[in-house]
Amino acid sequence: MQKDLLKLLDLSSEDINQILNTADQLKYSQKHGIDHHFLKGKTLAMIFEKNSTRTRVSFEVGIYQLGGYGLYLSGKESQIGRGEPIEDTARVLERYCDGIMIRTFSQEGVEKLAKYARIPVINGLTDFCHPCQVLADLMTVREYKAVLEGLKLCYIGDGNNMANSLIVGGLKCGMEVAVACPEGYDPDPVVLEFAKSDPSFKFSLHRAPKDAAVGADVVFTDVWASMGMEAEREQRKHDFQGYCVDADLMALTNPGCMVQHCLPAHKGEEITAEVFEAHAQEIFDEAENRLHAQKAVMYLLMKDKEE
Ligand code: CP
Ligand code: NVA
Repeated sequence: MQKDLLKLLDLSSEDINQILNTADQLKYSQKHGIDHHFLKGKTLAMIFEKNSTRTRVSFEVGIYQLGGYGLYLSGKESQIGRGEPIEDTARVLERYCDGIMIRTFSQEGVEKLAKYARIPVINGLTDFCHPCQVLADLMTVREYKAVLEGLKLCYIGDGNNMANSLIVGGLKCGMEVAVACPEGYDPDPVVLEFAKSDPSFKFSLHRAPKDAAVGADVVFTDVWASMGMEAEREQRKHDFQGYCVDADLMALTNPGCMVQHCLPAHKGEEITAEVFEAHAQEIFDEAENRLHAQKAVMYLLMKDKEE
C-alpha cells in the first residue's frame, strides 16, 4: 500500500482487495462490540472546501471509533481560504496530525498536499475522482453478490468524479463496466485510456442508457450537476434528458440487479423516486459502508508501521 489514497488508479487490485477485506472485518468488529481502537491517540485533519454530510460524518465517527480524533477544518474559515499555499499547509498539519483527509476541487491540489506532507493524505472527493465512495460501493456490491469478478456494472449519467472512480475500481476488480453519457459529458480521458490499457478489461461507452443497462448486475447513477457546476444546472438538465434510471431501464437488467447512488440524489432527475425507494436498502447500506471502508483506509495508512 502507498503512503496516500489519492485515486484508485494508484492502487493495485490486491490493495483494493485488502481494503475491502479489512473493511468487512472492521464492520464485523463494530457490529459485535469487538474492540478495534487501532488508531488510539491519532489525529486526522479533515479539510472541506466543498459541502458534505456522509464524508464528514463517516470520517469523524470512523476515526473516533478507531480510538483517534477527527479535526474539522473548513476551507473558508482556515487560512487555506485566504490563499495560504498548499505546500505550507501540508508542512504545518504534519507537525500536529497523523493523517489528512481533504475534499476539494482540483486533483492536482490533493497530489501536491500529499507530496509535501510526510503523513498520509486521503482524497475525500475532487472534481476528478471519489475513491473512498467507490471503495464503499465495491464493498456493498460484494456484500450483496458475494463476488465482484464477472459482474456487470452499469453507470448512467455524467462522466464525473463518480464515473471515473467506478470505471477504475470496477475494472480493477474484474467487473465488466458499461457507461452511458451524453455527448460532451464523457469520463476523463486519462480514465478512458486506462480502460483501454489492458486487453482483459471489459469496458464500453454508450450514448443510449439502454445499451449500457442490458444485463447489468448493478446500476449506478449520480447527479447531473456536481458541486462546483451549479451555474450549468439548467443546461445540464436539458442535456441529460433521457438519462434517468427508471423502471423501464431497470427492466433491461439482470434479475436481482442492484441500484447504487452515492447520494445526495435528485429524485425525478437522474433516478425516479420509485426506483430509488425500491432499492433504498441497498443505497443506505452503501452510505453506511462509507464508515467501514474509510476506517479500513485510515487503519491501513495510519497504523504504526512496526505493527
Ligand atoms: N457521497 C458523498 O460523498 O456524500 P457527501 O457529499 O454528503 O459527503
Ligand atoms: N458527483 C457529485 C458527488 C457527490 C458526492 C459531486 O461531485 O458533487
